Amino acid sequence: AVQHLYLFQHFWCPSTHIQGVINFQKHFQAKDSDVIVASFPKSGTTWLKALTFAILNRQRFSSSHNHPLLTSNSHELVPSLDFIFHGDNIHDKLSHLSNMTEPRVFGTHLPFPSLPKSIKESSCKIVYICRNPFDTFVSFWIFANKINPHSLHQLTMEEALENFCKGIVGFGPIWDNMLGYWKESIATPNKVLFLKYEELKEEANFYLKRVAEFLDCPFTEEEESNGVTENIIKLCSFEIMKNLEVNKSGTFSRNMEKKYLFRKGEIGDWVNYFSPAMKEKLSKIIEEKLSGSGLSFETCL
Ligand code: A3P
Repeated sequence: AVQHLYLFQHFWCPSTHIQGVINFQKHFQAKDSDVIVASFPKSGTTWLKALTFAILNRQRFSSSHNHPLLTSNSHELVPSLDFIFHGDNIHDKLSHLSNMTEPRVFGTHLPFPSLPKSIKESSCKIVYICRNPFDTFVSFWIFANKINPHSLHQLTMEEALENFCKGIVGFGPIWDNMLGYWKESIATPNKVLFLKYEELKEEANFYLKRVAEFLDCPFTEEEESNGVTENIIKLCSFEIMKNLEVNKSGTFSRNMEKKYLFRKGEIGDWVNYFSPAMKEKLSKIIEEKLSGSGLSFETCL
């Protein structure tokens, strides 16, 4: 089926998500201990969900051979609030959510202003990940074509980039999504931690510790010397996750093949796809949209 996008609360919401998003906004009750993994799609959500889950549950699952991340996809362990509430039985879903083991961890692609009041007003924490828009676009383009070639209305890559630059992409405009969380992370650094895929990739140990500190569960020196941080990084690494049986077959959320969540996991793959004209187009709009914000991406220079 063709995927439609609706301009809703100043962002482009996939038609498949509208009902779930409205119900999420209306019914979800955040707890102070909740952790929300927020992101723009294709920015490293699967990875950050795994890392966050592993950090928070490291005492429950201390030995790595029976870790839930070896037998479940991170989207199963960290469900997305944008479509948990899709369909009926809201009451059952709410009672299931209220009985989940704490701290509960959830995902969302919603822009910050669209998050329900209870997330903003409770003491729950938000970890946001973004990625340079060049690689994000390439990752999106390839993923969307794999899961459903019709979803892109048979656009060429250039035409899809044109839309992306106009902000017309699920949960876009990408700049608004990033800047919303960026500004909150500056205004309320205890509430929102802003991460970049590139930095996480280059300095995984540093940022893993940063996330744990932010979530009020810093690693002890003993844990570090016992290799706990190293093991988490390994458990959540692209190679390990991609090659797990659980991620090689089967689907998640709306019948999306899990294997498509793991493609290359690299920085800068966009150079293999962009023409000089495409590069210029996206560079120009990034400069325009991010200028003066303090947010920038080295790989886009
Ligand atoms: P590529 O398509 O560039 O390879 P999301 O999880 O938000 O959908 O993002 C998907 C992107 O993250 C894909 O990028 C995917 O390969 C990459 N990715 C998935 N798991 C990863 C991991 N454990 N470490 C690093 N990157 C990962």
